[in-house]
Amino acid sequence: MPQLTVPDVRFHASYLDAVREFTESGADPVVLVGEETGRYRRTWHAPEGFAAYVDMVLGERERPRRPDWVPVTNLWYVQDDAFLGKIAIRHRLSPFLLEFGGHIGYAVRPSARRRGHATAMLAAALPVCRQLGIDRALVTCDTTNTASRKVIEANGGEFEDRRGAKLRYWIRTGN
Ligand SMILES: CC(C)(COP(=O)(O)OP(=O)(O)OC[C@H]1O[C@@H](n2cnc3c(N)ncnc32)[C@H](O)[C@@H]1OP(=O)(O)O)[C@@H](O)C(=O)NCCC(=O)NCCS
Repeated sequence: MPQLTVPDVRFHASYLDAVREFTESGADPVVLVGEETGRYRRTWHAPEGFAAYVDMVLGERERPRRPDWVPVTNLWYVQDDAFLGKIAIRHRLSPFLLEFGGHIGYAVRPSARRRGHATAMLAAALPVCRQLGIDRALVTCDTTNTASRKVIEANGGEFEDRRGAKLRYWIRTGN
């Protein structure tokens, strides 16, 4: 059964395969790997390069990629050794995140879409948000992103408003 797990080098081959899928399907892999990852992408084909990338991703809980970013818990959605998707939980809202980005970002690899993974992944992440002290999680999506909107609504998202191209929803993470 798929589950959320902490990033680990054992998903090396599958993770790079997922990145390749994004590129081959014409999607920008930045939704998967995030920004500021250029130097890791140059070396992550080798085991030690991927290990350095995983260390950085895990370290974001204390050391954000950029000084102006907030701490993030990154979790991977996996089945056995197969990487299916990722979810990023931002520990608090900066002014930018409050307006547009929200607490949570997620992506599912193209070959694993439309099987309910994103819906299940967000549901599994809510207790983690709760443990991080987030009682209500802000989740946003582009007005054109029907799939993401459905994922949010299936998880109890309460629509607050639209700001620019973003729809903003709040999800209670516990009772
Ligand atoms: C958005 C995304 C995470 C959805 O992942 P997924 O695993 O396919 O989502 P699910 O299988 O849980 O599907 C959720 C709902 O969206 C629908 N859906 C999925 N893809 C769709 C599409 N391309 N167009 C319309 N509806 C779609 C599903 O049918 C399902 O609807 P239902 O609840 O009525 O059955 C995935 O498409 C993705 O990674 N996109 C790129 C990154 C991104 O947009 N992330 C979200 C940022 S806010």
